[in-house]
Amino acid sequence: MIKRMLAIAACLAVLLCGCTKEVQPSAGATKDKPIVVGFSQIGAESEWRVANTESVKSSLSEDNGYDLIFDDARQEQENQIRAIRTFIQQGVDYIVFSPKVETGWETVLQEAKVAGIPVIMIDRDIEAKDKGLITACIGSDFRKEGEKAVQWLEKLMVQQGRGANPIRIVDIQGTMGSAAQVGRTAAMEQAIARHSNWKMVVQECGDFTRAKTYEVMKNTLKRTKDIDVVYCENDGEALGAIDAMEEAGLKCNAHDGVIVISFDATKLALKYCLEGKIALDVECNPLQGPYVDGIIKRLQRGEPIEKVKYIDETQFDYFTITKGMIENRKY
Ligand code: AHR
Repeated sequence: MIKRMLAIAACLAVLLCGCTKEVQPSAGATKDKPIVVGFSQIGAESEWRVANTESVKSSLSEDNGYDLIFDDARQEQENQIRAIRTFIQQGVDYIVFSPKVETGWETVLQEAKVAGIPVIMIDRDIEAKDKGLITACIGSDFRKEGEKAVQWLEKLMVQQGRGANPIRIVDIQGTMGSAAQVGRTAAMEQAIARHSNWKMVVQECGDFTRAKTYEVMKNTLKRTKDIDVVYCENDGEALGAIDAMEEAGLKCNAHDGVIVISFDATKLALKYCLEGKIALDVECNPLQGPYVDGIIKRLQRGEPIEKVKYIDETQFDYFTITKGMIENRKY
């Protein structure tokens, strides 16, 4: 009986050690002590997201002086809020998080502030009024990305002599309420408001995934095939939309087919761009880990930091892309 009780106790001890991480309340990291960082990631909905997670993990590595506690929120904001609260209880030195949506963070960020834990936001933005609760943010200017895409389309339409023709547009939106969706959608909606001949024929959410967009596009094509442009708010969506369009017998290319516009510029999507299936891919750079490391190290040394850092991003189109550009791609 005693033996059995001891065995159960031993199993419990092993289980507890494996599942939880004992982190002492932060007295600030020192030279010999790793910097403890809690990282709340949205999930793994896209290739972009996976590359973003990997970038943070490899930059905030043990060898680089960190103890990283990673939490995957599996696409739920509640899970992110819960993870941030746990990081606060654990007394981490820094919290890094990528907010799924723009709103709903005030209370938990206030709690981090009261606990004296600096919060570094990556990738997406939150509503402006919450900004005082954030120590630094590193990410993309999604509105600018969208504007690059619509300006490219405006130019192409003029070059092709279609400046005054009716242009029928499908907008496959990203996760609703996320900064990436809000900025990219707004750029297209504003362009449509500027051009009386541009028409939004369908606007639906593909949730930044290939699978959902494939279904959305399949249903869209049952209603109409009279489409000039499919504006996909990330690469996963572009691939799903192309799958559905090709299955329905539509050609995707900038010359005499449906013009597919996308965001991210992942290696796989750029291969589609080289083939002409994606006409334009506006880069969204997920490799943000080195910037996070840089900011934390500066804060550790008490040096001033850049509070808002937008990463430089480029764009690729079918007319100018080369094989070499794809080979050098890191994600
Ligand atoms: O917030 C960045 C967006 O989120 C990327 O465009 C998308 O692929 C990701 O899931």
